[in-house]
Amino acid sequence: MKILITGANGMLAQSVKNRLSNHEIICTDVKELDITNENQVIQKIAEIEPQYIINCAAYTAVDKAEENYDLAYKINSIGPKNLAIASKKTGAILIHISTDYVFGGDLGLDKAYIETDSKNPVTVYGKTKLSGETEIINNTDRYYIFRTAWLYGDGNNFVRTMLKLGNSKDEISVVSDQYGSPTNADDLADIISQVIEKKIPFGIYHTTNLGFTTWYDFTKKIFEIANISCKVKPVTTDEYIKMMNVVQAKRPFNSKLSKDKILKEGIEIPMWEESLKKYLDLYK
Ligand SMILES: NC(=O)c1ccc[n+]([C@@H]2O[C@H](COP(=O)([O-])OP(=O)(O)OC[C@H]3O[C@@H](n4cnc5c(N)ncnc54)[C@H](OP(=O)(O)O)[C@@H]3O)[C@@H](O)[C@H]2O)c1
Repeated sequence: MKILITGANGMLAQSVKNRLSNHEIICTDVKELDITNENQVIQKIAEIEPQYIINCAAYTAVDKAEENYDLAYKINSIGPKNLAIASKKTGAILIHISTDYVFGGDLGLDKAYIETDSKNPVTVYGKTKLSGETEIINNTDRYYIFRTAWLYGDGNNFVRTMLKLGNSKDEISVVSDQYGSPTNADDLADIISQVIEKKIPFGIYHTTNLGFTTWYDFTKKIFEIANISCKVKPVTTDEYIKMMNVVQAKRPFNSKLSKDKILKEGIEIPMWEESLKKYLDLYK
């Protein structure tokens, strides 16, 4: 299978490249293919004629996006639109990655969002990512949109930050009132690989690791597996913002995404604790 991966230097792209190395992979970074440039996208995809396009390119700086709407919109909405138009012209299937931030995060904590729940993004990042989803749906029928969350892999991420802090401090404070599912980028890459093999129906799917936790319990698990003795203190989001004196985009309290739809298609996904252990064994 000929597969084009955009945003090839990003964190998820590293895992996808590795996982799909049994296919003919063409990787493009922003210099080789700027997804915001419609003519370039259409020309390049016509030249390459991939069967699949996996869009790993995105504007992912959630806080900076609040001040950079235009750039975030171009990369997260116009980019996917261009890829969808080019996919439709050539018959390629478009795989796009979206986010829990398309939801408002105010759903009752006893529930997890399903794919069709109403969207209410409260950040610029979330709004531009939702707009990207809409552009894809409006411009091609042959697409997969995978909403993921709390991603960690080969790049700067929460796990690596906590390992650094845990090894240099005696105590750290971590937010304990935001819920979601940590997701190992290697597992998301594996889900993509399974979907390509199984050819499940096109559409939107939630694709995080299984199980739910908080950033606080996630950190405790990181330290437990990595054998780090640093104490972890639970704090609320409000306390954290005051304590650190940070200005940040609003974070969703409930980022729980239900995986029932993709599990029903026979796709296998590991529990987040198991995946974290696998990651720490590899990268520690
Ligand atoms: N990280 C998370 O926790 C998280 C959570 C939920 C969803 N997601 C989604 O998962 C996907 C992958 O995230 P990630 O963490 O792997 O992202 P990432 O590491 O920030 O990588 C994004 C890549 O896109 C490239 N890029 C930016 N503008 C581009 C353009 N115009 N054309 C082509 N490439 C461009 C970037 O290149 P430069 O570095 O050169 O700018 C970067 O290599 C994204 O769609 C993101 O929204 C991530």
